[in-house]
Amino acid sequence: MPDPAHVRHNRARWNQTADEYQADNAAQIREQAFSGDIAWGLWAIPESRLHVLGDVSGKDVLEFGCGGAQWSTALARHGARPVGLDLSERQLAHARRLAGETGIAFPLVQASGEQLPFADASFDVVFADHGAFSFADPDRTIPEAARVLRPGGLLAFSHTSHIFEIATPDHAEHATDRLVHNYFDLLEIEADGMVHFSLPYSARSAPTATTRTATGHAAGPPSPSGEHASAEKGRGGGGHESCRALAP
Ligand SMILES: C[S@@+](CC[C@H](N)C(=O)[O-])C[C@H]1O[C@@H](n2cnc3c(N)ncnc32)[C@H](O)[C@@H]1O
Repeated sequence: MPDPAHVRHNRARWNQTADEYQADNAAQIREQAFSGDIAWGLWAIPESRLHVLGDVSGKDVLEFGCGGAQWSTALARHGARPVGLDLSERQLAHARRLAGETGIAFPLVQASGEQLPFADASFDVVFADHGAFSFADPDRTIPEAARVLRPGGLLAFSHTSHIFEIATPDHAEHATDRLVHNYFDLLEIEADGMVHFSLPYSARSAPTATTRTATGHAAGPPSPSGEHASAEKGRGGGGHESCRALAP
């Protein structure tokens, strides 16, 4: 199945911006890769404090939107068998460069998290620190993550808070003190030249259900090509949270 428009768009945009992203975040990326000390989200809360992933030793771990793969590198230092997945060839080139420097190599796979090239029940852990779950349709990524997880496996990710998204007006740089979008909508947001997705807590939109975009226009189910209507919205960062779920 061909990639939907938002995936093609995000792939081109991440290929364009990967060098800048890696340069801007080089200090944190290198610190995590070389020390093995990983920290979640915008507030860099240490995994050693949160214990979201727990003991990864001997586990098959899929990083969902790995970028430079500093997290996978760090987890390999803790005995995991990581696989780094990313949509962007340019981000994966940075991951290969880092592997050359650390001497820690593992599979790096170019694909979309909406359509994983892995067999069912291949991993014990699927995780992302502000990775593919933020930039891909949750109606596609969550079922794919569930499919490749073994029974009892762990799905964990950090993400921008939905509260932040519904308090940020279209085209605005920052959140306000007003809720400007419907909490219960699955938001598809265009910001920073990329398409982001935000899903309400304790809810999901069925693939066949009508959803609403951030503009408030009703949008039908994805077209055969998988395209949704998208809404323009600026944003100024902030509000990352961690989520954790166990597969059945
Ligand atoms: C904000 S970066 C985070 C990268 C890495 N987790 C880090 O902390 O540096 C988001 C990453 O998700 C990747 N990405 C976006 N959409 C994706 C998709 N549909 N499937 C896989 N990766 C995707 C981008 O290419 C990018 O490398």
